[in-house]
Amino acid sequence: MSIRRFAVALAIALAVIGAASVAYAQTQPAAQLRTPDVIFVPTPPEVVAAMLNAVKLTKNDVLYDLGCGDGRIVITAAKEYGTRGVGIDIDPQRIKEANENAVQAGVTDKVTFLLQDLFESDFHEATVVSLYLLPSLNLKLRPKLLKELKPGTRIVSHAFDMGDWPPEQTIDVDGRTVYMWTVPKAGGTK
Ligand SMILES: C[S@@+](CC[C@H](N)C(=O)[O-])C[C@H]1O[C@@H](n2cnc3c(N)ncnc32)[C@H](O)[C@@H]1O
Repeated sequence: MSIRRFAVALAIALAVIGAASVAYAQTQPAAQLRTPDVIFVPTPPEVVAAMLNAVKLTKNDVLYDLGCGDGRIVITAAKEYGTRGVGIDIDPQRIKEANENAVQAGVTDKVTFLLQDLFESDFHEATVVSLYLLPSLNLKLRPKLLKELKPGTRIVSHAFDMGDWPPEQTIDVDGRTVYMWTVPKAGGTK
């Protein structure tokens, strides 16, 4: 074999190996970043509806669900209100489910799901943030919410409050509680 033929054969072999490696990587689940701070417990549909209603969601909002689970809050917002949404979850299985659910709901043009630690994520573009975490996680997250979100951004939480930051609204939905706050102007923060 001439050197030229050998070089062409080598280039083809490397291209085939490269393509096979990419295909293999795409079939593998993404590595978990670290253990979730709270397990996945989905918010029931009627509570999702009450949360989106509490913040008076519009199609001009940008909704971030921090710890998005199977994506139901941002998917419902996209379907019912036409709102763009981003879901963040630390568990690759949840992100996989959320992406599948978005395809099924026909809203992949409106929603994005990111495999990230919510405490490390950049959510400053949000105009609405939804949470269903734990009391301790809400308190841990509160300084980041108040520092990074624009004044006027609405925060809605299923089940858990923000300690001594009193909610603007508290709604009972069949025995479950929804809390809502608005990020104040700088200087008025907790
Ligand atoms: C109680 S579930 C709520 C799911 C969804 N927001 C809902 O209301 O249906 C909490 C979610 O937070 C995720 N989670 C826990 N710790 C996290 C972290 N540090 N960063 C991102 N997601 C996290 C879990 O994987 C889980 O899916």
